[in-house]
Amino acid sequence: MKKITTRKLMQMKKKKEKICMLTAYDYPTAKMIEEAEVEMILVGDSLGMVVLGYDDTTQVTMDDMMHHTKAVTRATTNTFVVADMPFLSYHTGVFEAVKNAGKLIRDCHANAVKVEGGREIVDVVKGIIHANIPVVGHLGITPQSVHIDGGYFINNKDSDEVASLYEDAKALQEAGVCAIVLECVPSEVAEIVSSRLMVPTIGIGSGAGCDGQVLVINDMLGNFHGKTAKFVKEYSDLKTIIKGCIEDYRIDVKAGSFPEAIHTFSIDKKILEDSNLKES
Ligand code: KIV
Repeated sequence: MKKITTRKLMQMKKKKEKICMLTAYDYPTAKMIEEAEVEMILVGDSLGMVVLGYDDTTQVTMDDMMHHTKAVTRATTNTFVVADMPFLSYHTGVFEAVKNAGKLIRDCHANAVKVEGGREIVDVVKGIIHANIPVVGHLGITPQSVHIDGGYFINNKDSDEVASLYEDAKALQEAGVCAIVLECVPSEVAEIVSSRLMVPTIGIGSGAGCDGQVLVINDMLGNFHGKTAKFVKEYSDLKTIIKGCIEDYRIDVKAGSFPEAIHTFSIDKKILEDSNLKES
């Protein structure tokens, strides 16, 4: 796979080539994703729930995001890596937002940052892009708003919500974002919005009409300890497989059947005898 850039993503949209994205939070996973020629990696703040054991994404810090983004970019050369800007890292003003976005690019080598929200964050988006940092938008369910929204709700109750989502998408596009994640947007709406925008949409739970798809890697591998959402396709049951291996290991150790001779190192008999280790 050739190096993926913002230009390449736009070309893929024009050619109607689907864009593939997965989340990753560590070096070995990112390496496998790059080898599988998935175009984009999102170091999502879903990190908080799937890896760090937090209740929701609002507990994720800049330090968390930087630590894991560095691990991912050490593994990648051609994949386009997007790092999530965590809660409160872009809400206190443009200056702070640009500084934090800059850390994810300069110190962690991400290719772009992602922010949640629409028209209300356009000034921040413009400020970050003004610093030559590519920005990915995120509309629909925006998990960092969980406390003010009182949960995770799909915007499909009335026509105003649908119109508002489109206005937000247009505002983000005008501000210069290079892509927009649409999370749990009704598929009919996601398809129309995607067809009207110039920039690619990356859907999660938003149907096949988006320009690309993203899933949380732990969800699609069946390696998550919470409730799996309706939109997830589980390609494996890693949790059960890994747990089985851990149990087998424990049984072997308790029974003395691990390690075997092939797992051990030996010493020349003569050297052992000369060492007097046996006698003492
Ligand atoms: O944090 C994340 O993994 C995300 C995806 C759900 C799009 O934002």
